[in-house]
Amino acid sequence: MGTRRTGKIVILTGAGISAESGLGTFRDEGGLWSQHRIEDVATPEGFARDPALVQEFYNARRVQAAAARPNAAHLALAHLQEDHRGEVVIVTQNVDALHEAGGAQSVLHMHGTLAGALCAGCGHRWRAPDTMAVGEACPACAAPLARPDVVWFGEMPYLMDEIFGHLASCDVFAAIGTSGEVYPAAGFVREAAAYGAHTVELNLEPSSVVSAFAETRFGKATDIVPAWVDDLLGQTVRS
Ligand code: APR
Repeated sequence: MGTRRTGKIVILTGAGISAESGLGTFRDEGGLWSQHRIEDVATPEGFARDPALVQEFYNARRVQAAAARPNAAHLALAHLQEDHRGEVVIVTQNVDALHEAGGAQSVLHMHGTLAGALCAGCGHRWRAPDTMAVGEACPACAAPLARPDVVWFGEMPYLMDEIFGHLASCDVFAAIGTSGEVYPAAGFVREAAAYGAHTVELNLEPSSVVSAFAETRFGKATDIVPAWVDDLLGQTVRS
């Protein structure tokens, strides 16, 4: 009988893991980027040009995300964190809080969160109101420069040093529900593989970077993620 894989697991998630909780993805048929132009609602220039449109876009997503419930895939990852003997790090591109609602710990939100507000003037962060108004004042410096604490295109994602440290020291890297269209996240698989990690893509369909993965599992997240977690926890491998 071998020992259970006790290695460190790093998991990157994207919009696809929240799709079955009712939250729209970006690039699927009818996705968010077919309803709005990225340059209008997800860039600093767009915010400067029309802050009302941007606040409205994120207010609608904040209300939707608050009403959503974690699904079996979110719950399975929390279960993996709890039961796996090695460290399990969840890095998400998502700005919803469904991983946390499903019991996950220390989730790294590389694109920020809908729940966060940021002052474009002094950099102060606070919990965003359900509906953020244009010109909302910063509680620290009082400037009317409140914005969603979400990383826009052209801005540096958060926690990159910490994330690259995890990629360099994991035994398994998995990407779940992401199209592999946006860097730096789409490059994480190659980084982890370069350090010897086993790489797995779990997605509804092959992503743009599927060829970089050693293993692939296709299907709906609520089916394939719990099955993958069961395999990992039940797996007995010669160490
Ligand atoms: N189960 C598993 N995968 C799914 C499901 C599902 N039920 N539904 C959709 N998917 C997959 C799609 O096949 C697609 O590959 O999820 C992926 C979603 O891709 P995108 O919509 O591009 O979302 P994501 O990869 O998270 O986008 C990355 O782009 O616009 C930016 O900041 C935004 O964080 C986002 C980033």
